[in-house]
Amino acid sequence: MMTSEEILRVVNKGLESLAYDRKPTSLYEPIRYVLSLGGKRIRPVLMLLSYNLFKEHPEEILMPALGLETYHNYTLLHDDLMDNADVRRGQPTVHKKWDANTAILSGDSMLVLAYQRVAQCDNAHLAQVLDLFTETALEIGEGQQFDMDFETRNDVEEEEYIEMIRLKTSVLLACALKMGALLGDASQEDADLLYRFGEKIGLAFQLQDDLLDVYGDPKVFGKAIGGDITSNKKTYMLINAVNRANAEQRAELMRWIEAKQFDRAEKVAAVTRLYDEIGIRQLCEEKINCYFEQGKQLLEKVNVPAERKEVLRQYTNAMMHREK
Ligand code: IPE
Ligand code: IPE
Ligand code: MG
Ligand code: MG
Ligand code: MG
Repeated sequence: MMTSEEILRVVNKGLESLAYDRKPTSLYEPIRYVLSLGGKRIRPVLMLLSYNLFKEHPEEILMPALGLETYHNYTLLHDDLMDNADVRRGQPTVHKKWDANTAILSGDSMLVLAYQRVAQCDNAHLAQVLDLFTETALEIGEGQQFDMDFETRNDVEEEEYIEMIRLKTSVLLACALKMGALLGDASQEDADLLYRFGEKIGLAFQLQDDLLDVYGDPKVFGKAIGGDITSNKKTYMLINAVNRANAEQRAELMRWIEAKQFDRAEKVAAVTRLYDEIGIRQLCEEKINCYFEQGKQLLEKVNVPAERKEVLRQYTNAMMHREK
C-alpha cells in the first residue's frame, strides 16, 4: 500500500508531466497556469486511495484521476467567473489575469481534456466509468445553478442548501472514491458505500469551505475572505443566522442582504459580527463534525480489513482539519 503523501507526489508528478504543446497557446496557457498553482489535489488522491483499498499500484489509474483533477479545475475557472472572485490559490484567477472569454473557452477545453483523460482507463471498466463521470458532471452543473439562483432568493431553507452543496461539491468526491473502487474491482456494495462516504465528507468539506470563507486566514486560504457574504450566498451560516437572529439582528442582516450599494469590507465586517453574536461559527462546526462522523461510519462498513482503511481514514481526518 502507498501512503497518502506518496500518492500526492504521484499525482503532482503526473500533472507536471502533462504536455500542453497544441496551439494556440492563448487557449492552453491558462489551463497550464491554473493546474500549476497547486491545490490540494483531493479528488485524484481520494480516487487512488480508494483503489488502493482493493488493489496495489494505484499509479495504474493515474490518468483518469488526473482527468478528475482537470475537471475540478475547469469548474473553478467558471466558478470564479460566476462568483466574481479575483484570487485563487493566492494568485489572480484566469478571468482576471486574462479575461472572461478566456475563462469560458479555456474552461470548456479543460472539460474536454478531462473526458479524454478519464476515458484512459481499461476497456473493461470504460462504460461504467464514463456513466459515473457524466452523471456527476451533470449534477455539478445543477448544483452550481442552484447556488446562483439562491443568491437572489431570501427564502432558501437549510435542506435546499444541503442538497445544493451535495450537487455542486459532494458528488465529485463521491465519484472519485467510487471510480477508484470500480477500477479496483470492488464489490458493488463497497463501491456504493464509498460513494456515500464521499457524499458525507463532501458536505462537511463544503460547509468548511463556507466557514473558511468567513473565518479563514486569507494568506493561507488563498481566496479572498468574505466573498460569500458579499454576494449573498445562502450558506448554512447565513440561513441559520437569519433563523436564529432576534428582531433587531434580523433587520440588520436583511438590510445588508438587500443593500444595492455598499462598502465591501464594511458589509463583511458587519455580517461577520452578527454571525459572532448569534454563535454561527460553533453551529457550523458542529454540523461539519456531524457529517464527518456519518461519513466515518460508512467507511467502517466497507468490507476491507481495518488496517487497510487506515490511510484513507487519516487522510480524510487531516482534510477535516484543514485551513485552506
Ligand atoms: C474548492 O475546492 C471548491 C470547493 C468545492 C470548495 P478545493 O478546496 O479542493 O480547492 P483546491 O483544488 O485545493 O484549490
Ligand atoms: C464551488 O463552491 C463548487 C464548485 C466549484 C463546483 P465555491 O464557489 O464555494 O468554491 P470556491 O470557494 O470558489 O472555491
Ligand atoms: Mg461558487
Ligand atoms: Mg466560488
Ligand atoms: Mg467557497
